[in-house]
Amino acid sequence: MRVLLTGSAGFIGSAVAAELRSHGHEVVEFDAYLPSAHGDSSGVRRDVRDGYALDEALKGVDVVCHQAAVVGAGVDALDAPAFASHNDFGTAVLLAAMARAGCTRLVLASSMVVYGEGRYRGADEVTRSIADLRAGRFDPLSDAGEPLSWEVVPEDAPLRPRSFYAASKLAQEHFALAWTRTTGGSVVALRYHNVYGPNMPRDTPYSGVAAMFRSSLERGEPPRVFEDGQQMRDFVEVSDVARANRLAVESSVSGFEAVNVCSGRPVSILEVASALSSAVGGPQPVVTGEFRPGDVRHIVASPAKARDVLGFEAGVAPRDGLAGFATAPLRATTGHTRPTV
Ligand code: UD1
Repeated sequence: MRVLLTGSAGFIGSAVAAELRSHGHEVVEFDAYLPSAHGDSSGVRRDVRDGYALDEALKGVDVVCHQAAVVGAGVDALDAPAFASHNDFGTAVLLAAMARAGCTRLVLASSMVVYGEGRYRGADEVTRSIADLRAGRFDPLSDAGEPLSWEVVPEDAPLRPRSFYAASKLAQEHFALAWTRTTGGSVVALRYHNVYGPNMPRDTPYSGVAAMFRSSLERGEPPRVFEDGQQMRDFVEVSDVARANRLAVESSVSGFEAVNVCSGRPVSILEVASALSSAVGGPQPVVTGEFRPGDVRHIVASPAKARDVLGFEAGVAPRDGLAGFATAPLRATTGHTRPTV
């Protein structure tokens, strides 16, 4: 198949490009080389907000794999326009260009952040108060004040974004869903959990925790684990994420389907830090009790639908993948970290 791959120069996009090519697909690369992510690196800059560039690139394309996005949780409210512009306006321009080109299939990079706080036994919606966090009560509490236990999050869980980034990812899904209704096209939205692996960008305020821990260890410092370290996540290796994309590109899904892309083997943040420290013989992690007000406590996915809809099962267990990641190359980042509109 001929695949237009947006965000092809990024951490995940470049892994998707390699996976598609190794399975005989033709890849049309498309990337804006945003300075916030790529510094001054010189690629051919093509932006998804440019309908003319898309009209050219979409010629003869069977399916679009849309990875281009401004990522990270966002540092402050000044980041909101960049998320809305690149992620939401960009997706809207792309969907219109696909309609012009008669291209009816989209694979969309989404995120587990659309679920917000995740799911807890016996509670519908939870929030964590700053007072509780300050007092070291990190787990969400029941009405009776007891800590709630987490449950796996299926794709039909309520969608409650908590950050500008999360809001922009959910809006992308909504635009894509509306597009399937209007055009009869199909969309697979891949809700990535915590992606890690070779060539992950080095630490910036926009990086995920695995890159932060790696960067601390490279400086000879212990990873700093926030809260009590017992917060649960699902870490999925980038080669598995690339394979999930390839399976979605090759699938014959109709309408709109959202699927979790995860390893199915949850780990605590302290376990992640310890695995990375041990793999390089570095200092053991320090549990600091600090907290970030926007963080969610536990977010653990169900891998069942990805298996049913795409035949996807992760091949890399976090224990093996994190040991490999501990010494894998990271991509250099530059001083200009705030994404511009
Ligand atoms: C992360 C991404 C999110 C992405 C999602 C899925 C960021 C900021 N968040 O969400 O955009 O969609 O993965 O791939 O990029 N922590 C520490 N020490 C640190 C930094 C963080 O202990 O130095 C803790 C945090 O408090 C949190 C956990 O690690 O409990 C995970 O943090 P992080 O990776 O930043 O955010 P996620 O919520 O998992």
